[in-house]
Amino acid sequence: MTRQMHLNAFVLFCPAPVTRLSWVYPEDKIRHQWWEMAYWEEIGSTLERGSFDALFFADNMGGYGGDADSVKYGMHFPLLDPAVLVPRLAAKTNNLGFVVTMSTTFTAPYALARTMQTLDHVTEGRIGWNIVTSTNPHEGDNLGVELPAHDERYERAHEYMDVVQALWDSFEPDALVMDHEKRIMTDPNKVHRIDFDGRWHSSAGPLSVMPGPQGKPVLTQAGASNAGMSFAAKHAEMVFAPAANDTQRRDMVADLRSRASDHGRDPYDLKIVFTHGPIVAPTAAEATAIQEQILARPGYAADIAALRPPAGIDLSHIEPETPLSEILPQVTGMRGPFEKAVEDDNPTLAEFASRFRNLAADSRFVGTATDIADELEALQDFTDCDGFQFAPTYYPPDCYATIVDDLVPELQRRGRVRRGYAGSTLRENLLGDA
Ligand SMILES: Cc1cc2nc3c(=O)[nH]c(=O)nc-3n(C[C@H](O)[C@H](O)[C@H](O)COP(=O)(O)O)c2cc1C
Repeated sequence: MTRQMHLNAFVLFCPAPVTRLSWVYPEDKIRHQWWEMAYWEEIGSTLERGSFDALFFADNMGGYGGDADSVKYGMHFPLLDPAVLVPRLAAKTNNLGFVVTMSTTFTAPYALARTMQTLDHVTEGRIGWNIVTSTNPHEGDNLGVELPAHDERYERAHEYMDVVQALWDSFEPDALVMDHEKRIMTDPNKVHRIDFDGRWHSSAGPLSVMPGPQGKPVLTQAGASNAGMSFAAKHAEMVFAPAANDTQRRDMVADLRSRASDHGRDPYDLKIVFTHGPIVAPTAAEATAIQEQILARPGYAADIAALRPPAGIDLSHIEPETPLSEILPQVTGMRGPFEKAVEDDNPTLAEFASRFRNLAADSRFVGTATDIADELEALQDFTDCDGFQFAPTYYPPDCYATIVDDLVPELQRRGRVRRGYAGSTLRENLLGDA
């Protein structure tokens, strides 16, 4: 049987989700601005037309915001809170799932468990939580909390998962009796204190929210380091695996599946997707012309500013021709992508900066629907991944419409993408085939 692909859309509640300056677009073609509800509602209905599993919101507390270039070029700044947007979008859609990012370093476990369980009710079982440990010291500065070292963040996160799971379990599924005659709302024997007192976290419980349709949100994660992949293999149901080339992608998939098995899980219950930014057009020449316009936008100042939060340090004073391997020891934030690029072709700082978070730079996914479907199929077969998340390289309502109306039908014809939804919750759609 042909292996099916799961599809997600990858955005932030900001002007340019991944590809820098992707907010720049012919102004007469902009129907709605990025902060307007009509913009998001149009994206939501487009994705649902393409049977996407979820609209995924990456996020952090404050955006790049720490330096003038990020503010000037609109790089993850302004950045609004997606957890507040999701209920609105859930009301306007029927099947599309929503994944919201929240940090184990900067959110109290009880607050997270409560928000996510409430969102499971509000979205009627279509919520996911993207678990991040956070990499950006500027976030810590905004919240008055120091960012712990990389591996300690994951140690804390493991304990964090124990607390939130205990909180979700603290309210038994049949505890809410609503017995009008006996005047009993909730059976006190079926809600439990947890009295969790760990090394880093504590919480008394019980959680004040009854389980939603999914019992707990779908758990997603994007660890690339050893600590990050161990965490994903234990906890995540979907992983966004960052890698620099296809061999690394294939090895990461195999590694994640084998680690999942070590935890007693079915390795194919861990859905592993890669992030790409296809540029689809009726002819290859038209697609290349769009790509050239996009790539002409960011300059070095924007490129280098984009690296600052993930690197955790300011790289603007380093010579652009410096090999990345010489910079790697100083990187305190998201080490994975830097390590993978050094392993791959050890680019100069300037080369790495121009391609980092600039998905339009990958010419493999620029072309006609047929060309791109060929590439995606080959990539899935080579790596054994479960699908893709597509990030917009230009005005998202139009970019997603082209993907959904041109590329998705081609993948459906090949039996790679389902037509319609497998179930009514995000978990059913993620784990089931159509
Ligand atoms: C597709 C993708 C989405 C991510 N989204 C976020 C995010 O929204 N917020 C965040 O703080 N980190 C985000 N990250 C960073 C990861 O959580 C993780 O820190 C990073 O991949 C490096 O892996 P490591 O933590 O194992 O070193 C994302 C990474 C990837 C690849």
